[in-house]
Formats: sequence, structure tokens, C-alpha cells
Amino acid sequence: MNTAIDDSAVVGRRCRIGNFVTISARAVLGDDVFIGHNVIIHPGARIGDRTNIQDHAVIGRQPISSTISTRKVDHCEPIQIGAECIIGSHVVLYAGVVLEDAVMVADLASIRERTVVRKQAIVGRGVLVEYDTVIGERTKIQTGTHLTGNMIIESDVFIGGEVCTMNDKQLDRDGSAELIGPRIRRGARIGCNATILPGVIIGIDAVVGAGATVTKDVPDATVVSGPAAKYLKDAPPEFCLNQLPLRSPEPNAKTHILDRAPRHPVLSRHCPPRRTVPSSKGPMVRLTPDDDEHAG
Ligand SMILES: CC(C)(COP(=O)(O)OP(=O)(O)OC[C@H]1O[C@@H](n2cnc3c(N)ncnc32)[C@H](O)[C@@H]1OP(=O)(O)O)[C@@H](O)C(=O)NCCC(=O)NCCS
Repeated sequence: MNTAIDDSAVVGRRCRIGNFVTISARAVLGDDVFIGHNVIIHPGARIGDRTNIQDHAVIGRQPISSTISTRKVDHCEPIQIGAECIIGSHVVLYAGVVLEDAVMVADLASIRERTVVRKQAIVGRGVLVEYDTVIGERTKIQTGTHLTGNMIIESDVFIGGEVCTMNDKQLDRDGSAELIGPRIRRGARIGCNATILPGVIIGIDAVVGAGATVTKDVPDATVVSGPAAKYLKDAPPEFCLNQLPLRSPEPNAKTHILDRAPRHPVLSRHCPPRRTVPSSKGPMVRLTPDDDEHAG
């Protein structure tokens, strides 16, 4: 029913294909593939035998940059999906992705261009895997985790839910920074809600406690936990777009950590000192120039 299969596509034996499916030019489906309703298979995608793709999945779309993206994207090779994979509902897989055999990608997850997921790995519900990342064999990633670009995750790693990883330490504005994701060595386990900074290496069989902020390499077979946040320095002026006052919700609210920080000498000359004003909006926020006028 209303399914569009391009003449140049190849569909294997005993495939089951739902309603409103698009199978684009040169796509190749192996035998016994299941495709749910409303699935879109982009040009040249290769899908192995017995793979199961659930409703509304998008398979092999090309990446697109926004007009202000600092990282421009290239046209990628078609996606390759191995045998016996499971692709959940509403999953979006980009061109250039390689999924080896028996990989599971759960509902709502997305995997960006050129990432490789090795066999039997599980990418959990709502996980976002960025570009050029490698996920090792049998590695399991739980719900809602963000795996950054240029990251290496070795085999038999466990990553809990809502873990956040980064590849740009200075939060670069112009795209000149080298982007290096963390490396997670084989057998390591990362607790829920941990935050791992760029380039950090988590050692073999190491454990990162729930909620930890990992700023330095973790030796093999050690357990680390706890936040590391503390005042370091003022933000370098060359990275600052605005120098605006801060305000707190209550006149007697506790002093914000930033207000305790020493003022940068250059900024002190050019900017008014920080001050606090009452607000009914809750937590401390930076004022926009307009807000500032009204705040008096
Ligand atoms: C880090 C962890 C492995 C340590 O477990 P443990 O060895 O049994 O440690 P304990 O519970 O005996 O705690 C030892 C101390 O560390 C503290 N601690 C434990 N986990 C901590 C964490 N994540 N962050 C900060 N402190 C932690 C405890 O409060 C305790 O402190 P105390 O000695 O002052 O009382 C564990 O607490 C953890 O965070 N596991 C991650 C769970 C997870 O995310 N699972 C994902 C799948 S659901």
C-alpha cells in the first residue's frame, strides 16, 4: 500500500515491508528483512539479512550544516547495516554509518555520519551518537546518553543513562579548535549522569561513579566519583560576546560563586561591576540589555 520501491533497489527474499515505505535508488535489502510502516531507506543503503527496522525509522540520510555551523559536513558514503540488527521506532541513522551484525539501536536514538558500531553493541533509547565515533563490540549504552564526535569506546564497556561526553574543551566559537572526544577503554563502566571532558581516557575496567565530572585520565581498574567543579578563573575576554550584570532571585540570596571570583583587570576597566536585583523568575540569570533597562 503506497510503498515506493525504486526500480534500481534490490529487495531480498521473504522481506516484509510495511505501508508508506520509501526504498530509494540502489538500496539493497538482504533476505528476511522486516521493515515497519513509514520507514525511509535513503539511496544506496545496504541492509543485512534478518534485520528488523521499526516504524518511522530514517535510514542513511545525508548530514546538512546550518548556515552558521562551524563544522561543515561532506557528502557521505551510503550507510551499511549488518545482519540481525534491530533498529527501533523513530531512529535516525546518517549516511556513512556502519552497524556490524546484531547491533541494536533502540527507539528514538540517532547516530551521526561515519560512526561505526561494532557487533552486538546496544545503543539505548534516545541516545545520541555524534560523528566519527567508534563503539566497541558488546558495549551497552543506556537511555539518553550523549556520545560526542571523535570518541572511541572500546569493547564490553557499560555506559549508564544520561551520561554526557564532550570534545571541545574551550567551547570554541569559530571552529578552529581540534575536537577530541574521550576514550573509554575496554571493560570500563560509567555511572548514570557522569560528565566526561574532552580527551579524557577512562582506563581498562575503571569505574566512574554516578554524577561524577571527570576532568583527568582515570587509571586502569580504579573507581572514581564526585564532582570536580570549582572556581578556576574569569572567562578570557576574547571569547566573551557580552559583559552583562548578574542578578539573584532574592535580595538576601546567597552570593553566587561568580560574584566571589576576582574580576579580570581588563573587564573591570570596561564593564560595570556585577550587582544583584530582585527577580520573581527564580534562579540567577544573565540579563539581556533590555531586561537590564527594566530592572532599573
Ligand atoms: C561509585 C560506586 C560504584 C561506589 O560504590 P561502592 O563502592 O559500593 O561505594 P559506597 O556506596 O560504599 O560509598 C563509599 C563512599 O563513596 C560515596 N559515593 C559513592 N558513590 C558516589 C558517587 N557516585 N558520587 C559521590 N560519592 C559517592 C559514598 O557516599 C560513600 O561516602 P562515605 O564513605 O563518606 O559515606 C557507586 O556508588 C556508583 O556511583 N555506581 C554507579 C551506579 C550507576 O550509575 N549504575 C548505572 C546503571 S543503573
